[in-house]
Amino acid sequence: MKILILGSKGRLGSECRNVLSHDHDVVSPDKKEMDIISWDGVIENLQEISPDVVINCVGFTDIDLCETENFAVRKINIEGPRNLAQGSARFECKLVHISCCDIFDGQKMMPQPYFEDDTSNPVSAYGKSKVDSEVAVRENSPNYIIVRSAWLYGINGKNFIKSILTQAIRKKPKIIRVADDQFGSPTWTYRLALQIRELLLNDGRGTYHATAEGYCSRFEYAKYVLDKLDIKASIEPCSKKNLQGAARRPANCLLENRLLKSQGINVMRNWKKEVDIFLKKFGEELIKEAKTKKS
Ligand SMILES: NC(=O)c1ccc[n+]([C@@H]2O[C@H](COP(=O)([O-])OP(=O)(O)OC[C@H]3O[C@@H](n4cnc5c(N)ncnc54)[C@H](OP(=O)(O)O)[C@@H]3O)[C@@H](O)[C@H]2O)c1
Repeated sequence: MKILILGSKGRLGSECRNVLSHDHDVVSPDKKEMDIISWDGVIENLQEISPDVVINCVGFTDIDLCETENFAVRKINIEGPRNLAQGSARFECKLVHISCCDIFDGQKMMPQPYFEDDTSNPVSAYGKSKVDSEVAVRENSPNYIIVRSAWLYGINGKNFIKSILTQAIRKKPKIIRVADDQFGSPTWTYRLALQIRELLLNDGRGTYHATAEGYCSRFEYAKYVLDKLDIKASIEPCSKKNLQGAARRPANCLLENRLLKSQGINVMRNWKKEVDIFLKKFGEELIKEAKTKKS
């Protein structure tokens, strides 16, 4: 298959490029070469590249900044996906679009997960933009896959694991406070890229949840990572209400991979086992990065 990946310098996009390049013809222009906001640019590139599949890993992903940057958020998270959906329809290619747990309000009682057909009710500007992105894709593309995931981490870009390690290693702040009333499933970008590959191989269609199996609170997640790497730090649980950040976050971010399972194509694994493999592979590199990173 010829696959066009957008956002390939980002956390998930870079992993999709690495994974899919093994057995597909991957083209991955950067933002300068193909800006998804530009309708003309999208059409010209689709015509020239002529892909079978377009994977949209582009996003305005700073959740707090989304609360104030309304114009950029609308352009990148809604108009861009609409351009890709209309363009993909015109050139008859499949569109894979990535969404997230923030489309839900997180009010379900723990540990009840959200299913693919639950009603969306976002509590942040980011979540609202992702709901609208999904609508733009569904309304304009006859052959789409929407993949909703959550709490992504990987070797590229910022993530929760890196942030906790940096705080712990630098002992700044002296006491690390982490929410114990916010729940989700830490999901490795590498595994999600493999899941996207599996969906393409099986000609998946529609909206899928794809997160690691099992769940934890942010606090449990942080402690697990520090214990695994044997890093001593003062870490305390607190309520998410006491942590800074402009945007509200859903308390319950659990997504059940129901459709993947019912179709027999779920490759997602238990979050702890995944974090173990990730830290075994990249632990030293992450510690080095945390020590040398400019603050
Ligand atoms: N991170 C998570 O925990 C998470 C969880 C669930 C779902 N998601 C979704 O997964 C997708 C990918 O997220 P991510 O965390 O991998 O994103 P990311 O690391 O923030 O990367 C986003 C990429 O989009 C590119 N980009 C921005 N504006 C663009 C434009 N107008 N045209 C073309 N490219 C543009 C960026 O390029 P520059 O770097 O050059 O600006 C960057 O490479 C998003 O849809 C996000 O909502 C993320």
